Amino acid sequence: MKVVICSSYEEESMKAVEIFARRMREKPNIVLGLATGGTPVGTYKELIRLHKEEGLDFSQATTFNLDEYAGLSPSHPQSYRYFMDKNLFDEINIKKENTHILSGLAEDLEAECASFEERIASAGGIDLQLLGIGSNGHIAFNEPGTARNSRTHVVDLAESTIRDNARFFDDPSEVPRQALTMGIGTIMEAREIVLLASGGGKARAIANSVEGPVTEEVPASILQDHACVTFIVDKEGASLLKGNYQT
Ligand code: PGA
Repeated sequence: MKVVICSSYEEESMKAVEIFARRMREKPNIVLGLATGGTPVGTYKELIRLHKEEGLDFSQATTFNLDEYAGLSPSHPQSYRYFMDKNLFDEINIKKENTHILSGLAEDLEAECASFEERIASAGGIDLQLLGIGSNGHIAFNEPGTARNSRTHVVDLAESTIRDNARFFDDPSEVPRQALTMGIGTIMEAREIVLLASGGGKARAIANSVEGPVTEEVPASILQDHACVTFIVDKEGASLLKGNYQT
C-alpha cells in the first residue's frame, strides 16, 4: 500500500481531492464510495469548492455510502443521510437518486443490506472508495473480529466506537447501538481505496494497519492485501510508523 504523510489536515484533504478529481475527470460516470465522520469533512469542502469554482461535474456520478445507524431517520441530524446531504450532496450537482445510503429505518434490515449489495453490483461496482479508520482499526462499522469476506450487514457497535461517536450527540445514551455497514469483502472489491486519518488518536490503528500483521483483529490491516490503496495521514496520525514514507 502507498502511504502519504502530510503536514496538516488541510494538506491531507487536498491530496485526497486531487485523487478524486483526477478519477472523476477520467470517468464522469464514476461510482464513488463515500464515508462520514469528522475526517472527510475537509475533503468534501474542497470537492464543493472545485465544483463551484472549477466546474467539477457530479451529474453522471453515483455514490454509495459505507454505513448508516440503525433506527435514525434521514432527517435526524446525526444520520449519515443528513450528514451527506449537508456536507456534500446539497452543494453539488449530483442527482439525489444516484446517492445510495443504507436505510436505518428499513423494516427488514437484512433485506436492506442485501438490496444495497445488489445496487452496488448493478452500478458496476465501486471505482473509488473513501475510508476513515476508527481508533480500534475499524473500517466503516466493521469492528475488530469481523470476517474479511463479510458483505453488507447489521452490526452491534463496539463500546469504543460508541464512545468515539458520542461527541456528535447531545447525550452519549443517544448513540445508536446498531448500524448497517458495507462488509470488509464489499470494501475490498472497490477498484481503488483512499483511507484518511488524522490526529494522534489514530496513530496506533495506523501503525497496526500499515506495519502490523494482516488480521481480522485490525480490520484496516486487511487493506494490505488490496492492489490499489493509499493511506493519507497527518504527522500525528503517522507518529508510530517506523518505515520511511512519502511526505
Ligand atoms: P472520524 O471517524 O473520521 O470521525 O474519526 C472515522 C471512523 O470511525 O471510521
